[in-house]
Amino acid sequence: MRAIPPTTASTPATGVLLPPHPVLSDYYTDEAGRLVQVRRWFDDTAVHYDWVNGLMSFGSGVYYRTEALRRFGLVPGERLLDCGSGTGVIAAIAQRIVGPSGLVVALDPSSGMLAQARGRGVRNLVPGRAERLPFADASFDRLSMGYALRHVADLGVTFREYLRVLEPGGSLLLLEITRPRSLVGTAALRAYMRTLVPLATRWLHHGRDTAALMRYYWDTIEHCVPPETILEALRAAGFEQVRRQTQLGIFSEYTAVRPTRVQNDQRLEMEQQ
Ligand SMILES: C[S@@+](CC[C@H](N)C(=O)[O-])C[C@H]1O[C@@H](n2cnc3c(N)ncnc32)[C@H](O)[C@@H]1O
Repeated sequence: MRAIPPTTASTPATGVLLPPHPVLSDYYTDEAGRLVQVRRWFDDTAVHYDWVNGLMSFGSGVYYRTEALRRFGLVPGERLLDCGSGTGVIAAIAQRIVGPSGLVVALDPSSGMLAQARGRGVRNLVPGRAERLPFADASFDRLSMGYALRHVADLGVTFREYLRVLEPGGSLLLLEITRPRSLVGTAALRAYMRTLVPLATRWLHHGRDTAALMRYYWDTIEHCVPPETILEALRAAGFEQVRRQTQLGIFSEYTAVRPTRVQNDQRLEMEQQ
């Protein structure tokens, strides 16, 4: 697998482009090509996504996402935006938690994925990308993104959009799979996700595209920027209380809070003293 470092990549502090992973030249050669390929894969494989996801996670996907939302502290009456909602697994769970007095909006660029989310009972579906959200400032109390951060073009642009659409005091939850720190752990997970899952997918007649998407899925994980870079990009975008918790060493849960005006004012006062 050839991974070509992007020529524009830089640290979050400089405000220059910060893609979540380098160009993966086995699949595409430039950003335009990546957009077309990723969009096509997710559209074409949307009907198989839940099945493959169930296989990959040994059927624990809904339980894990429910627990993650519980740890996040989502409560009835809140307004949540689920970015990169896919088939709407997180959005459907969130709808049940926030109840009739709350609001859940599922956003995704893939019409195939949004159709699956509709079938699952997700009520508010919006086509769009995380980098350019079609919502007014401070529209949501909470924002979630499950396993989609590796598909955005730029972490800085995305996190500034997240900050903008959250209320002051609002919070975000990013779920991601992170490459294990040990070489042995990485090799084992690679064998499972890049070889076994795609093979099983093909044997069980869920198509070449789904198998190719699963290989790509692993490659984006293996070449993803380290957790420290994601945490730093969240801080650079203006978030506070930026944290990462892990489950089983590979399931990362990033949380962060948009500062309230009071906190900003307090900081200004302290700086002036
Ligand atoms: C692996 S699926 C994750 C679905 C779901 N969130 C879950 O928990 O299973 C990734 C989703 O991200 C979407 N996606 C790709 N590029 C995106 C972007 N720039 N902004 C938001 N979502 C994007 C894809 O269409 C796909 O539905």
